[in-house]
Amino acid sequence: MDAERFREELLKLHSIGIALSGMHDLNKLLEMIVREARHFTGADAGSLYLREGDALRFAVSQNDTLKERLGPDGERALFSSFTLQISEASIAGYAASNKKNLNIPNVYAISDAALYGFNPDFDQRNDYRTRSVLTVPMLDHREEVLGVLQLINATKDGQVVAFESEREDLVRSLASQAAVAVNNARLTTEIKRVHLDTIYRLSVAAEYKDKDTAAHIRRMSHYSAALARKLGWDDDRVELLLYAAPMHDVGKIGIPDSVLLKPGKLNAEEWKIMQEHTTIGARIMADSESPLLRFSETVAITHHEKWNGSGYPNGTKGEDIPQVGRIVAVADAFDALSSKRVYKGALALEESFKIIQSDAGTHFDPECAAAFSEIREEVREIHKKYKDV
Ligand code: C2E
Ligand code: SIN
Ligand code: FE
Repeated sequence: MDAERFREELLKLHSIGIALSGMHDLNKLLEMIVREARHFTGADAGSLYLREGDALRFAVSQNDTLKERLGPDGERALFSSFTLQISEASIAGYAASNKKNLNIPNVYAISDAALYGFNPDFDQRNDYRTRSVLTVPMLDHREEVLGVLQLINATKDGQVVAFESEREDLVRSLASQAAVAVNNARLTTEIKRVHLDTIYRLSVAAEYKDKDTAAHIRRMSHYSAALARKLGWDDDRVELLLYAAPMHDVGKIGIPDSVLLKPGKLNAEEWKIMQEHTTIGARIMADSESPLLRFSETVAITHHEKWNGSGYPNGTKGEDIPQVGRIVAVADAFDALSSKRVYKGALALEESFKIIQSDAGTHFDPECAAAFSEIREEVREIHKKYKDV
């Protein structure tokens, strides 16, 4: 490979690395890695398997020839739910168990002495002709095998040729980027799961209550996220809200039990104390560097404001109330209405929807109330899903 070409490819690889580090969606990211690896090598087809225990599962498959013949949906259908054992018997399994590249010029001419063999089922079923195959393991920084990247039929001037051995290192390095991406995605998922679990537990603890409160927090945060999505928020902000909404009432940790758990109606003095849960919550989360906590702070301080200005603690009105507060107000009240409380019984969902509508323009932002009505099926699903968890 000449120096100029090498430089170009290095730059390309670098720019892929940068693009990857900014991508959140693992599937898209793996698709992109396979596409770039094919681009580097001129491969007609490419697959990526992810390791699950002792098996390799198809995660990505691209095949230009079959795509042209079958269309994108047909191409996708070919590969769904395909798994291989990690054993020496298959090419991909061999590469995984030995952590070795396999660059095979013609899979139909593999020597009988080889430990691995080519499985021609796919070719027969789809009238495809596999010939050259470059298979590289996806190794992470600890040399763990996270999967296998397989490139099929290097093509030059319309002819299938062998993969250039000089390109193996580049492909291997792309496969490692895929491994890093998979590790990151798994870590992120785990961190988010633990984070959300912690938020739920702290929020429940703040209200000194039981399973009912846990379910309320889950439902109202999912209602809030669904409503925000309906109002056009992007995925990242919707997710942020899903994490911020559970903390809307953490200020209740500062409300005496005698008030918080009082079975009947609150008197004027108790009501004044109760209203402080908004400002106490905001104080707990104030001055944080975390965008999530800053968002939660806004939610805590605004979720009891009303559209007509009769809410608390500030009596803010209309669009002066941050939209997130107007969203959470609907979600929180809807779930409070449809749930049993120490001070009241539960209303039916239908009845609760009606109250949200009838209080639109007084308590609730009319736009939020209308959008909530449009997602009622989703709301019912969420209600069903988090009934007693
Ligand atoms: P929560 O029980 O989680 O209720 C949240 C919000 O849902 C309420 O905010 C209110 O906007 C709405 N909501 C709940 N039940 C009803 C209802 O029957 N009708 C209507 N129209 N809206 C309802 P709010 O009123 O600011 O109350 C905040 C928190 O104060 C409540 O949270 C609850 O913890 C406490 N609280 C409110 N009223 C009473 C009461 O009479 N007795 C006791 N013990 N606590 C109360
Ligand atoms: C293998 O690695 O043996 C699977 C290749 C294929 O069936 O296309
Ligand atoms: Fe509240």
